[in-house]
Amino acid sequence: MNNSIAVIGLGAAGLPLAAVIASNNMNVIGVDINSKKCDLINHGVNPLPDEPGLQNLIKKYGGGRLKASTNYSDAANCTVYIIIVPLFIDENHLPDYNHLHEAVKNIGKILKRGDVIVVETTVPPYTTETLIRKWLEEESNLKLGDFYLACSPERIMTGYSISRLKDFPKVVGGVDKESGLKAYNIYKKFIPNIKLVSSARVAEFIKIIEGCYRDVNIALANELFKIASILQVDFKEAREYANHAYCNIHQPSTGVGGHCIPYYPWFLIKEAERRGFYDYFRLLKTAREINDEMVYYWIKIILENCLKINKPLTQVKICVNGITFRKGVKNTHYSRNMKIAEILKEKGFNVYVSDELLSKKEIETLGFHYLKPEAADLIFDSFNLEVKINPNPSLDD
Ligand SMILES: NC(=O)c1ccc[n+]([C@@H]2O[C@H](COP(=O)([O-])OP(=O)(O)OC[C@H]3O[C@@H](n4cnc5c(N)ncnc54)[C@H](O)[C@@H]3O)[C@@H](O)[C@H]2O)c1
Repeated sequence: MNNSIAVIGLGAAGLPLAAVIASNNMNVIGVDINSKKCDLINHGVNPLPDEPGLQNLIKKYGGGRLKASTNYSDAANCTVYIIIVPLFIDENHLPDYNHLHEAVKNIGKILKRGDVIVVETTVPPYTTETLIRKWLEEESNLKLGDFYLACSPERIMTGYSISRLKDFPKVVGGVDKESGLKAYNIYKKFIPNIKLVSSARVAEFIKIIEGCYRDVNIALANELFKIASILQVDFKEAREYANHAYCNIHQPSTGVGGHCIPYYPWFLIKEAERRGFYDYFRLLKTAREINDEMVYYWIKIILENCLKINKPLTQVKICVNGITFRKGVKNTHYSRNMKIAEILKEKGFNVYVSDELLSKKEIETLGFHYLKPEAADLIFDSFNLEVKINPNPSLDD
């Protein structure tokens, strides 16, 4: 298809974007390594049925204005390439560029003079102007200036993807002025609230610091919650009256899960360390630690409550109610709630799981036994942070 936009990576972030572009009267070729997903989309079937608003768009445009393929050569006639594949971190908290490198190399092979490449994947600062540019130039034998390169980090939130693309502010910045302008003019056609910033580096940084803000504030809420509990202060009530225009104490939790926030602070911490700055990022590191340690805090509270039940500890039926990483989102990636259930299971406790978004079969596929909360001796309600002892567990599970 000539003059189409290619969206590389049709995941939780890429597919809603591709569908929104198609809904703005443009032809889109989505490229994804998952052939099953491509088939579904081409048949108008939405592989992300829980994403509000997406179903209609895939039904309407899938296989028509939005075509999916596993083959990069099907996108060879496109003039715009939007990259939105994941970038995770490895066990040393360093970015794992495998997916991104693979995608960029494949684009490089089909790149032509005048094409525009936009990186939507959240990346450490400098990635677009150094690594991505280098990989594209190596593969294509073209130079920046023959093609244009910009960064416009995806800022959606699972469960709100379509509405966010329609009204949430989005930024775009180029590795040079011309690239920024070209990308901005393209994005204006399908993102109503697009802002041009001075560089790709600034655009990259905006997305990361947004994640850092959330992580640090959730860590603060978790710390205050723990202190309130020692002081026997009702944290919910205190938080409600403490918050106003200049004070936004976040919700405490079991930690931070999902694809985004737990990873982004490491992009800055590791980049700073690479440059020899080891003591500049104490707050970001501490926030990460505080949030990850919440799992153990809650396990301790659960077990302390189990000891109040008149049964041997390993026979107490514990139900972790809610194991997705966020309430209302059917996704368990880096879920701290699931981690609590996993650790209790590993330690030999009699742990079960229930979740309003997951069927018994889905829970079993994740390696847990299902139990309805009423049948447990102790229920940990992970989203409301409540541990309840059930004096009369129902026998019917
Ligand atoms: N999910 C969110 O809510 C969200 C929000 C904001 C930003 N983001 C960002 O969007 C990016 C993508 O995340 P996601 O949540 O969509 O991930 P995802 O795991 O849901 O989807 C990624 C997709 O990319 C495909 N893929 C992997 N390697 C590929 C390759 N070489 N070529 C083509 N396709 C390939 C996978 O098959 C998959 O379908 C990440 O940088 C993430 O941080 C995600």
